[in-house]
Amino acid sequence: MDKKVKRIALLSGGGDCPGLNAVIRSITKTAILKYGYEVIGYVFGYRGLYTNNYIELTVDKVENIYKEGGTILYSSNKDNLFDYLVEDEHGNKVKKDVSDVGVENLKKAGVDVLVVLGGDGTLTSARDFSRKGVKVIGVPKTMDNDLSSTDLTYGFISASSVGTEFIDRLNTTAKSHHRVICCELMGRDAGWIALYSGLAGNASCILIPEIPFTIENIVKHVALRDQQGYPYTVVAVAEGAKYADGTKVIGKIVEDSPDPIRYSGLAAKVADDLEKAIPNHEVRSVNPGHIIRGGDIAPYDRILSIRFGVKACELIDQGLFGNVVTLRGETMGYTSLEEVIGDAKIGKQKRVDPQGELVQAAKAMGVCFGDE
Ligand code: F6P
Repeated sequence: MDKKVKRIALLSGGGDCPGLNAVIRSITKTAILKYGYEVIGYVFGYRGLYTNNYIELTVDKVENIYKEGGTILYSSNKDNLFDYLVEDEHGNKVKKDVSDVGVENLKKAGVDVLVVLGGDGTLTSARDFSRKGVKVIGVPKTMDNDLSSTDLTYGFISASSVGTEFIDRLNTTAKSHHRVICCELMGRDAGWIALYSGLAGNASCILIPEIPFTIENIVKHVALRDQQGYPYTVVAVAEGAKYADGTKVIGKIVEDSPDPIRYSGLAAKVADDLEKAIPNHEVRSVNPGHIIRGGDIAPYDRILSIRFGVKACELIDQGLFGNVVTLRGETMGYTSLEEVIGDAKIGKQKRVDPQGELVQAAKAMGVCFGDE
C-alpha cells in the first residue's frame, strides 16, 4: 500500500469523447472527498505537462460537469513528449524527446501520481512515462469501443444513442419520399457505432468494416424491400467500411498525427453508386461527423464514467501503478499499460465478429450487410 500520495494530476489526450468530463468529475470528487488528495489538471494534454500549464481541480469546479460532453481540461491529439516538435538553436523545427521536462514539471508541481485519460496514442506515452518511473494510472477512452482490454468504454453508448436518433429521423423522411438515404457514422476501423445505431434505429442496411459489401447486394436488398411494401431504405454506413474489392474512402491523410487516416465520404460514394444502380429511387447521403461526439452524455455513460473514475482512485490508493482501469462483464478491474498498448495495435483491436450473435441476430431480422 502506498500511503504517500498527496497530490494527483489528470490529463486528457487524443480526440474528446462523451464521458471524459464525467470521469474528470468522479476522479476529482473521489480523490478529494474519499482519499484527501489534492487534484490538478494539465491543460491540453501532454502539451500542458510540457509547458507546466495546469489548473487546480476542486469539487466545486467539477460538480456540474456530470453530463457535459468534451473535456474541461481540453485535449490535443498531437503532442507526444517522447517525439515533440521544438525549435532548435537555429530556429528550425525538430522532433525531440522532451519527456524529462514532463517528469521535472510533475516534480515541480508536487505530483505523486499522473492519471491519463486517453486512447492508444495517449496511453502509449503514459506507458513510456511509467517506464521512466512515473506513477501512472490509465483510464481508457475510445468512443469507437475498439479496445480489447475492456468490454466497454464510456462514450460509445452516448455516440451510438445520437447515431440512433439520426437513423430514426432519417427513416421517417426516407419513408415519405421513398428514398434511399445513406448515413455515415464514425468508428474508424471498427463497426460498433454503425452496428448499434443502425440496429437500434432500424436501418435495414448496415455497412461495417468487418463485412465487405457490394453495391449489387444493396440494390438487391432495396428491390426486396420494394416487393415487401417498404419502398425506402436507410443505410447506416460505418466510415471505415470497405467494398468487397477492397475500396475504402479516405477523406484525408494527415501527416504528423498518431492516426494519419481521416475517414470521410464513404456514405456519399455509396449514395452515388446506388443512384446510378437504382433509377426508381432518389438517393441521398448525410454525414453527421463529430455531432455524435458532442453534447450531453447518455445516462449509462454517466454511471460508467463514475465507475471508471472511482476505480482509478482505488488503484492509486492500493499503489497499483502502471495499470489501466477496465470493465469485464459487470466487474471493474485493471490491466497493465503494457498489455493494453499491445492490445490496441492494429490487428488486436476489438472488432465486430461477422459470425457473432449480434450480426446474426440482425441478419435474422432481415438486415442487409451488403455481403449477400
Ligand atoms: O476515435 C474517435 C473518432 O471520433 C473516430 O471515430 C473518428 O474517425 C476520429 O476520431 C475523428 O478524428 P478527428 O476528431 O481528429 O477528426
